[in-house]
Amino acid sequence: MSFARSAFSFAQRRTFSVSARQNSKVTVLGAAGGIGQPLSLLLKLNKRVTDLALYDIRGAPGVAADISHVNSNSTVAGYKPDDAEGLATALKGAEIVLIPAGVPRKPGMTRDDLFNTNASIVRDLAKAAAEHAPNANILIISNPVNSTVPITAEVFKSKGVYNPKRLFGVTTLDIVRASRFISQLKSTDPANEEVTVVGGHSGVTIVPILSQSNHPDIAGEARDKLVNRIQFGGDEVVKAKDGAGSATLSMAFAGARMADSLLRAAQGENVVECTFVESPLYKDQGIDFFSSKVTLGPEGVKEIHPVGAVNEYEQGLLDACLKDLSKNIAKGKTFVAENP
Ligand code: NAI
Repeated sequence: MSFARSAFSFAQRRTFSVSARQNSKVTVLGAAGGIGQPLSLLLKLNKRVTDLALYDIRGAPGVAADISHVNSNSTVAGYKPDDAEGLATALKGAEIVLIPAGVPRKPGMTRDDLFNTNASIVRDLAKAAAEHAPNANILIISNPVNSTVPITAEVFKSKGVYNPKRLFGVTTLDIVRASRFISQLKSTDPANEEVTVVGGHSGVTIVPILSQSNHPDIAGEARDKLVNRIQFGGDEVVKAKDGAGSATLSMAFAGARMADSLLRAAQGENVVECTFVESPLYKDQGIDFFSSKVTLGPEGVKEIHPVGAVNEYEQGLLDACLKDLSKNIAKGKTFVAENP
C-alpha cells in the first residue's frame, strides 16, 4: 500500500490510528524551508508520528507554532541555533531524521553546482546527528544526494557510529514522478503504476527501468522522451519557478512517503522503496552507494534487491549512470577527508 494511495484516506487513517503503538519522534533539519514546511505539515498528519521536532537556522519556532494547531495528537517543537542545546534536543530520541537543509537550484544549475554550499551544511548536521541520534534512520534530501549521502556516511564513520542500514538518500520523488509521467502517457491511474528507478538522484544517474513496468511496450521516441522527462523532471519545476527554487511540494510529499514507509517497516510491515543506500550491487566497480529496490524493516535496510533483468537500452543508461555516480560519490568522500 503506497503513501500515494493512502495519504489522506479516512478509512486508512482510522486503521493506522489504532496501530500507532510506539512512540516515534521524527526530526526535520531545515524545517522552515520550501520543502521543510510542507514536509513538516504532512508529518503532523501522520498518526505514526508522536513527536515532531523542527530545526532550522531561521524560523523553525514559528513553523512549529503554526503546525502545532493542526488537530492531530503529536507534539510539535521548534528549535533554533541560539537555543541552548537546540539542535541536540531536536535530535535526541529521534527515530527518523530528515535533512532538507541547504540551498536549492536556480535555472541553469545542476545539482552538483550546489555541492560547495550544501556539502558543509550536511556535514555539520550529520556531525550533530551522529552525536545525538546515532541510531536514527537518517534520510538525506539535500542535494546533491549522490554526494551528500557519502558525506554523511564518512561523518558517521569518523564518529564510530556508522550503520549502513540506517542511512538513506531520498530518491522517492523520482519514483513518484515516474509513475505520474507514465500514467499521463498511457492515460492510466498513477496509483496503479509502479516504475522502478535505480542509480542515483541527478540527471543521467536516474535510471528508470521501464521494461519492468506495466508498459514494457513503450519504445522509440516515446521511450526516449519519457526517460528524459523522468531524469530531468526536476528541471521543469526549476524553470517554472524561475529563480525561486526547485521542487518543494512534490518533494515534501515524497519525503513524507519515505518517512511513512520506514515507520510502517519499524512496526513490522514489509515495505519496499527504491532508495540510495550503501549497496553491494556495484561494489566490485568501486561504487559503494546505489539506489535500487530495498525492503525496509525494523532495523532500517532489510534487503537490497538487485536491479534485475534490463534490456540493452537500459544497460546503456546504467553504464552512463555508473560513470557519473562513481565521481559524485568520490567527491563526497574527498570533501570529508579534506574538510573533516
Ligand atoms: P530552501 O532554501 O527553501 O530551504 C532550505 C532550508 O534550510 C532553509 O530554511 C534554510 O534556513 C535551512 N538551512 C540552511 N542551512 C541550515 C543549517 N545549517 N541547519 C539547518 N537548516 C539550515 O530550499 P528547499 O527548496 O527546501 O530545498 C532544500 C534542499 O533539498 C536543496 O538542497 C534541494 O536541492 C534539495 N532537494 C532535494 C530533492 C530530492 O529529491 N532529494 C528534491 C528537491 C530539492
